[in-house]
Amino acid sequence: MSKLTRSPAWQALKAHHTAIEPVHMRQMFQDDPARFDRFSLRLGNLLFDYSKNRINGETIKLLVALAGQAELPACIGRMFGGERINFTERRAVLHTALRNCSGHPVYVGGMTRCAQATGAGMPPPRLLPQTAGCAITSDLASVVGSPSRMASSSTSNVSEADGKDVMPDVRRVLGLMRRFSDAVRNGQHVGYTGKPISDIVNIGIGGSDLGPLMACEALRPYASPKLRAHFVSNVDGTHLAETLKKLDAETTLFIVSSKTFTTQETLTNACSARAWLVGKLGDEQAVAKHFAAVSTNLKATGEFGINPDNVFEFWDWVGGRYSLWSAIGLPIALYIGMDRFEELLGGAYAMDEHFRSAPPERNMPVLLGLLGVWYGNFFGAGSNAVLPYDQYLHRFPAYLQQLEMESNGKRVDRDGNAVDYDTGMVVWGEPGTNGQHAFYQLIHQGTRMIPADFLAPLHSQNPGGEHHSILLANCFAQTEALMLGKTAGEARAELIAQGLHGEALEALLPHKVFPGNRPTNTLLFDKLDPHTLGMLIALYEHKVFVQGVVWNINSFDQWGVELGKQLAGKILPELCGAAAVSGHDASTNGLIGHLSGHAP
Ligand code: F6P
Repeated sequence: MSKLTRSPAWQALKAHHTAIEPVHMRQMFQDDPARFDRFSLRLGNLLFDYSKNRINGETIKLLVALAGQAELPACIGRMFGGERINFTERRAVLHTALRNCSGHPVYVGGMTRCAQATGAGMPPPRLLPQTAGCAITSDLASVVGSPSRMASSSTSNVSEADGKDVMPDVRRVLGLMRRFSDAVRNGQHVGYTGKPISDIVNIGIGGSDLGPLMACEALRPYASPKLRAHFVSNVDGTHLAETLKKLDAETTLFIVSSKTFTTQETLTNACSARAWLVGKLGDEQAVAKHFAAVSTNLKATGEFGINPDNVFEFWDWVGGRYSLWSAIGLPIALYIGMDRFEELLGGAYAMDEHFRSAPPERNMPVLLGLLGVWYGNFFGAGSNAVLPYDQYLHRFPAYLQQLEMESNGKRVDRDGNAVDYDTGMVVWGEPGTNGQHAFYQLIHQGTRMIPADFLAPLHSQNPGGEHHSILLANCFAQTEALMLGKTAGEARAELIAQGLHGEALEALLPHKVFPGNRPTNTLLFDKLDPHTLGMLIALYEHKVFVQGVVWNINSFDQWGVELGKQLAGKILPELCGAAAVSGHDASTNGLIGHLSGHAP
């Protein structure tokens, strides 16, 4: 048994699970009319209702004790304080610095001690007005008039030295983003033939795609009507080809986004996009006006031939899946404007401040994370559905898949020992009512418990008719149905009322019963604006952190994606005939053999 599973807090939860397992949530709601008030939380315009969970006060106490045993408050302090908590890559984890509106410095390597950085002893967080942008504000002063825009970026693509305050660089790059996005949006930055930019194409994959794509989709109502945003990620040539079909080279701006600038998919797509552009405009010189890059690897962006004026850097302390707050968010800034982008940062900052200062039992990310632990480790749930009742959030589940599954899909603990408990869950989902007519059947009546998060805005960005009331009625009805279920008695009464009786009734009855007692969280917000989206994303980022701390794993590396890349590197020359096929298993040999004679 691992240290975690034999710990008193774990054992207490195990015993508590045995006690709570037979209790139906119906009963819990009947017994406690104040249950919603006890188990819901507000932060700004965000309401987190976690009352439809298989918990009572004791559960929360025990889960919080588990977090305490894992030293969660100190770990939060270590992350915000810049310690190199991503120890397998020797990196700090400072995406929170990218939205640090406090005006305080943030040092790589942990100059801020845990006790100072968490609840106890901390000055109260600065409160932001609900719609505030981020007081971090892009530092245009340090951009304009600087002899070289990279002057203070000597640390790019190298590990930052311990003790360095990252905030001046953060502000400087935000300033560059503002200058560039303003210029593109107001028509100052034009294409090679002098026409304004109408289409932005982000070329990137994983964290260099999913965050900006999800956010641009979510914030469409705030987008410039003069700009369209496209995202090409898949190395499948179809993705690029179908995107290019819609575009005019004269008015298209490509942003090549890659933390490492070595990612095969991104570089392949970028090379093809460049060839397309040069082919259409007939001059290599056009590249300077139509390509920008975002990376930590400035040497590689230079080698690729991107105009240094159009290169936006970030740093090794920003994880790929946590990078949308950095220059990786450039497509978002272009699409919705820099002021709105800073509102997004402000929303995340508000969640950060809540996360680092609220007591665990009133802390949204902590509770969300611990509820996941409760179901994953004690009820054996293997997946978590995320169900947005907002069409604009249609890529949110896909974004969370990388955030959660790349972060917490780990099988060894921080000491390298195989864990004897489950870690990250499978995350999946689709916008609400579409899901209802597809997979909700399994959530209601299947054999597996699938805890689900429901997200919905009180106000639609597109009011009109009855759409939004119908949408919300469905959202609320689903969580009610999942909790209540339908007993055999209720189903029987319904069937009798419909005129059924005898054998026909008995035959149908079991199919009409819903067990209920299926847990859900509901997150309601006023409307999906940049500030709220920032809060939501940061909420899930910190949820992942909480779970990683409890499971004692490194949530910030991703070695699991490497093996496939390595093997593809060996197979590619074999497929092209540049190397002999060797050293594979029979299946892989068979597949390679099947391809020969059917050239790709
Ligand atoms: O292969 C996984 C991964 O490294 C992700 O973690 C990352 O977000 C993605 O690839 C893209 O990497 P890059 O931004 O370096 O191109």
